[in-house]
Amino acid sequence: MFAMFRLLCFSIIVAVANSANIFAIFSVPSISHQLVFQPIWRELSLRGHKVTVVTPNPLNDPTLTNLTEINVSYVYGTVSLQFLIDNSNLMPDQLVSMSVDHYVKPLIESQLNHSDVMKILKDNNSHFDLVISEMICSPAFGFAYKFNAPLVGMLSFSDLSAAFLAIGNPLHPILNPDMLLGYGKQLSFWQRVMSTYSQIRYVLRYDYEIMPELDRIARKYFGDDMPYLGDIEKNVSIILTTHNFITSKPKPTVPALIEIGNVHLKKNVKLPQDLQKELDKATNGVIYFSLGSNVKSANISSQLRNVIISSFAELPYTILWKWETDHLPGKPDNVITRKWLPQEAVLAHPNVKAFITQGGLQSMEEAIYYRKPLIGMPFFADQMKNVRSIAEHGIGVALNTDTLTKEKLKSAILEVVNDKKYKEKISELSDLMWDQPMSGLDTAIWWIEYVIRHKGAKHLRSPLLDLPLYQYLLLDVLAFVFGVIATTLGLLYAAYIYTKPVIQGVVGKNKVKSN
Ligand SMILES: *[C@@H]1O[C@H](CO)[C@@H](O)[C@H](O)[C@H]1NC(C)=O
Ligand SMILES: *[C@@H]1O[C@H](CO)[C@@H](O)[C@H](O)[C@H]1NC(C)=O
Ligand SMILES: *[C@@H]1O[C@H](CO)[C@@H](O)[C@H](O)[C@H]1NC(C)=O
Ligand SMILES: *[C@@H]1O[C@H](CO)[C@@H](O)[C@H](O)[C@H]1NC(C)=O
Ligand SMILES: *[C@@H]1O[C@H](CO)[C@@H](O)[C@H](O)[C@H]1NC(C)=O
Ligand SMILES: *[C@@H]1O[C@H](CO)[C@@H](O)[C@H](O)[C@H]1NC(C)=O
Repeated sequence: MFAMFRLLCFSIIVAVANSANIFAIFSVPSISHQLVFQPIWRELSLRGHKVTVVTPNPLNDPTLTNLTEINVSYVYGTVSLQFLIDNSNLMPDQLVSMSVDHYVKPLIESQLNHSDVMKILKDNNSHFDLVISEMICSPAFGFAYKFNAPLVGMLSFSDLSAAFLAIGNPLHPILNPDMLLGYGKQLSFWQRVMSTYSQIRYVLRYDYEIMPELDRIARKYFGDDMPYLGDIEKNVSIILTTHNFITSKPKPTVPALIEIGNVHLKKNVKLPQDLQKELDKATNGVIYFSLGSNVKSANISSQLRNVIISSFAELPYTILWKWETDHLPGKPDNVITRKWLPQEAVLAHPNVKAFITQGGLQSMEEAIYYRKPLIGMPFFADQMKNVRSIAEHGIGVALNTDTLTKEKLKSAILEVVNDKKYKEKISELSDLMWDQPMSGLDTAIWWIEYVIRHKGAKHLRSPLLDLPLYQYLLLDVLAFVFGVIATTLGLLYAAYIYTKPVIQGVVGKNKVKSN
């Protein structure tokens, strides 16, 4: 009887751990972000967790019976990242501050304002075991306070300094310069000075301006009893970040910063029939050109567009261009346009010889998976850094849109298609990238369930979060060492001054004597 009771208790405990109530909010209206998160919320629901997710890109799959999706697709079109493209020369702290004002604030407020989200917020009985949030600077961290639940952060790009600060990962200005600086593998002396200056500005502005502002917004929705939002953010249990050794240098990470990669790949996507026919026919080779989902090629300057068109017209290949309107002015005969393309299926086609990309992380993962050499043409955010890594790793050629000419683009394409070394190098890196103990998706799910099982991950909290800055920067130790050296030198000097007349006296006497 007692044994049975114990068994019953055990099964109840296991059932609780096995089926958690999860609240997730993935705010950014960008399909390349959402594509990374979708497989995760889908898989969590398939494993029996009850998942409620706020997203602008619901899966809308009726077979996922444990999943509730709150469709906030209306935020598409209300915000735009154009300001980041127009101001890509500003310092990282300025860009983050602008992003909070022009992007995060309107976005999150309109999502928190959704009637279904409001219902959850107002209901004193709503209960969740875990909160998952996109780890951008966000008032949505307040949900962790509201449900008194552990917080898991997720990032669909690597190296966001704010996320590193939140998890207490060392931020080294030379080893890991902010991604928005766009620096490559090796920094020049001035880049090292700029990176250090930029990081000091970033940390100060984040702590004294950006976070207090986010805290004010969060209070409107979560109430005044909420602890300071910056403390909730720093209470995050783990952060899952898409990352690979090609676009980001290997770096020291604390155990709570967990790298996942290749989560969004579907691997068995089919081409629409008409496109399949066109690509099969193009035995001379196909160049695939897409600037991703955030940069619209229909919106690049007409000057740049003309450079690209005139260069394409002189190539012996078929060009497949993701162009977002019905009409491409001056379209050459060898160019096919589509408003949308199943990118994985295109890259999988054997006739595709090269991929001209803006350097988004997901596009690069796909290119590496399907072994297609790259021509990088960056516009903003992490794209500059990612495109630099294309050239550094020898998997393609990096171009600069500000100085692009017809000849430069044409010769870059011809070189990448005809020189075998690019294809060989990307195949080699592809083999390396897939040699992993666990897939990115399995890694993500394992860690999320780990946080559920242990109600957080306090034992993984980085000591850096509780260390005063002066101690971390060794200021007191250095002050002591310099103090000792200065005192010693001072004493020696004083001794010299004091004994100088005596020594001179002795020497003088000796001189007199010897005379
Ligand atoms: C829903 O969750 C239950 C356990 O809570 C699980 O047995 C079932 O397979 C899940 N169904 C689907 C379609 O994910
Ligand atoms: C989300 O809502 C929009 C309109 O608000 C609708 O057009 C769209 O189809 C919805 N998406 C899904 C996947 O249900
Ligand atoms: C929230 O919704 C109400 C009406 O439903 C509207 O009046 C208000 O402007 C909205 N606020 C925001 C920040 O979207
Ligand atoms: C929830 O609790 C707050 C304060 O504890 C109270 O003011 C409010 O009326 C409650 N709401 C409901 C729906 O019970
Ligand atoms: C940090 O998380 C723990 C456990 O989830 C919670 O009890 C505590 O109140 C949180 N502290 C803050 C400042 O959010
Ligand atoms: C181009 O940008 C403008 C504003 O910057 C916007 O109104 C327009 O819809 C964009 N066009 C495309 C095709 O995205």
